[in-house]
Amino acid sequence: MDKVRKAVFPVAGLGTRFLPATKASPKEMLPVVDKPLIQYAVEEAISAGCDQLIFITGRGKRAIADHFDVSYELEIELERKGKKALLEQVRAVLPSHVSTIVLRQPYPLGLGHAVLMAKPVVGNEPFAVLLADDLMLADEPVLTQMVHQYEHYQAGILGVEEIPLEHSSRYGVVEARNWDENIYQVSRIVEKPRPEEAPSNLGVVGRYILPARIFHFLEKTQSGAGGEIQLTDAIAALLGERQVLAYRFQGQRFDCGDKLGYLQATMTFARLHPEIGPAFTEYLQQICQDQKMGE
Ligand code: UTP
Repeated sequence: MDKVRKAVFPVAGLGTRFLPATKASPKEMLPVVDKPLIQYAVEEAISAGCDQLIFITGRGKRAIADHFDVSYELEIELERKGKKALLEQVRAVLPSHVSTIVLRQPYPLGLGHAVLMAKPVVGNEPFAVLLADDLMLADEPVLTQMVHQYEHYQAGILGVEEIPLEHSSRYGVVEARNWDENIYQVSRIVEKPRPEEAPSNLGVVGRYILPARIFHFLEKTQSGAGGEIQLTDAIAALLGERQVLAYRFQGQRFDCGDKLGYLQATMTFARLHPEIGPAFTEYLQQICQDQKMGE
């Protein structure tokens, strides 16, 4: 059985919902407390067993490659100042058994097009796709949960969650039959349907495990919703040939590509942070109390 060793991170999007913050720096570098979004996604992939990370970047995304590169000057300076704990943190950004490859998507032609860029590096293996702006909070990392499902069922796995139907046009939505606990057999998938056209309330989030065969369909995929080459359309074509499962993961997703979702993530992660959690929680309680007294 092929293991899922390769993780693809499409980070070439324009991040228009977060302008002007994303004008010159990538949205995946937005920090949640003290780590950029992309680092959370990378840690999730590594803990799921991936040791080859493939970043699909675009214009103005150099900061992402730099973040996972060795920063000699910084390390020397931290060492000189005896800041051991910080030095450890900086060095731990990328464990030594993990390698990275940066590929460029010349034009932001869509998520499907970005994933297709990884074809020469992924080759004939199953691979994971992680969208870093979907930040996950879970006891067992979400991609690890999905790798377990992949190993059990030997099929493509789409991470899904129940969505409010009025939000269906933000997601790929699946038509699926419940098969086992939290596992559904997908019969159809539609990109950004209107609520009245949504085949269910199961929306696909930014976690996928896909067979290499998806590249064959991506090559044939024409631009779809929003004029972009959609990964969803290639998955829809794959369904004619292979079994694809939807997995309702355990945990909470924050849509950090959206301002409100990003702030909710920041609040939640700050409250759980070992260093500032208690003080931040106290601060929030104080704000709520002040507000109540002001009413
Ligand atoms: P989004 O739909 O969130 O688009 O892309 P976006 O451009 O990043 O953000 P908005 O909607 O304009 O605010 C989903 C994921 O696909 C990547 C993005 O980087 C994001 O991780 N993507 C999208 C690409 O890598 N290339 C593309 O051409 C489009």
